[in-house]
Amino acid sequence: MDKLALKNIDNSANQDEIKNTGLNSARAAKKDEFYTQLSDIEKELRHYAQHFKGKTVYCNCDDPRVSNFFHYFSYGFEHLGLKKLIATCYKNQSVDLFSASDVEQAISLEYNGDKNGNKIPDLEEIGIKKLKGDGDFRSEESIELLKQADIVVTNPPFSLFREYVQQLIDYDKKFIIIGNLNAASYKEIFALIKANKIWFGPSIKSGDREFGVPDEYPLNAASFRLDADGRKFIRVKGVRWFTNLDFRERHEELILYKTYSPEEYPTYDNYDAIEVSKTKDIPLDYNGAMGVPITFLDKYNPEQFEILGITDRDNNSGLKIREYTVNDTPDYGNLNRRGAIKVDGKYKSTYARLLIKKVNPNEN
Ligand SMILES: C[S@@+](CC[C@H](N)C(=O)[O-])C[C@H]1O[C@@H](n2cnc3c(N)ncnc32)[C@H](O)[C@@H]1O
Repeated sequence: MDKLALKNIDNSANQDEIKNTGLNSARAAKKDEFYTQLSDIEKELRHYAQHFKGKTVYCNCDDPRVSNFFHYFSYGFEHLGLKKLIATCYKNQSVDLFSASDVEQAISLEYNGDKNGNKIPDLEEIGIKKLKGDGDFRSEESIELLKQADIVVTNPPFSLFREYVQQLIDYDKKFIIIGNLNAASYKEIFALIKANKIWFGPSIKSGDREFGVPDEYPLNAASFRLDADGRKFIRVKGVRWFTNLDFRERHEELILYKTYSPEEYPTYDNYDAIEVSKTKDIPLDYNGAMGVPITFLDKYNPEQFEILGITDRDNNSGLKIREYTVNDTPDYGNLNRRGAIKVDGKYKSTYARLLIKKVNPNEN
């Protein structure tokens, strides 16, 4: 099914209503409208093909007219051996100048595969239902659809990331979702990472990625790219996939080549760990706790390393330890400085550090 056919599902917004809406609220509402490119979806999803056979996939933040997730799964339905594909399209309550979510009616779509043998998802093969509510992923209607799903795959609104992930965990769903690297240091998300209930996907490990934005997106000309068809794209830094589905690369060992020396790896004064400022420099012969950058998660193999905790920046005191295992929690006399990491008598003001250690200590 092409996207033009899908545009017929649309109901246009009331233009007067659009004009009357304030610019600032429009900008605020707009921040969540980023459309993932098909090439990025393909690069990640090819690592999970074995998980999809006979499964129901739900894209619950996806307007099928613009969502490449819906495109990927509807065209790949037979190849992946899916049982069912469901999507729900959110009707933004604050219809405004910059909203792409200008549908008057939220809808759900259901696709059960090709019926007429042309291997293409035709419009008449897709069941479209009007929703009573606005299609919010937290609504009762969406939750009923979530219950039917085995795997949820989408790019959820970043502003609701914590809540979004918590709902998936509460309903015990498998998922592959795209978000921001920084979310890994959120208290709730980090707790899931530490417990090995969620991890980074394999296809994005550095750099930025381009996302489509609505035509009216409020940007100056220097900050976006127009493609040959006049569609707008912006680059977003620090993007990562978050998943709880397994893939082969997650079990590959990180090859270590450096050896430990106290000169090269300073010890924190107030916690028994060494500072390792680059993941590739993790010493092969150190068995204790180490502070590494968050991007360590790109290389994290749970059979090789255990995550003990995470530190956080504290404006007054440098680094603050946010999560420890109970046994590791250090006792600081001064509550204001609780958890601050010190090296050579100074509170270190650097990026957050993950505290890790090897699962299998060296024998030497
Ligand atoms: C980052 S965009 C990604 C869109 C699409 N999944 C994609 O990758 O192309 C997030 C989408 O979630 C929608 N959205 C915002 N709040 C939502 C909510 N509470 N429930 C469901 N969808 C929501 C937005 O309208 C937006 O289209």
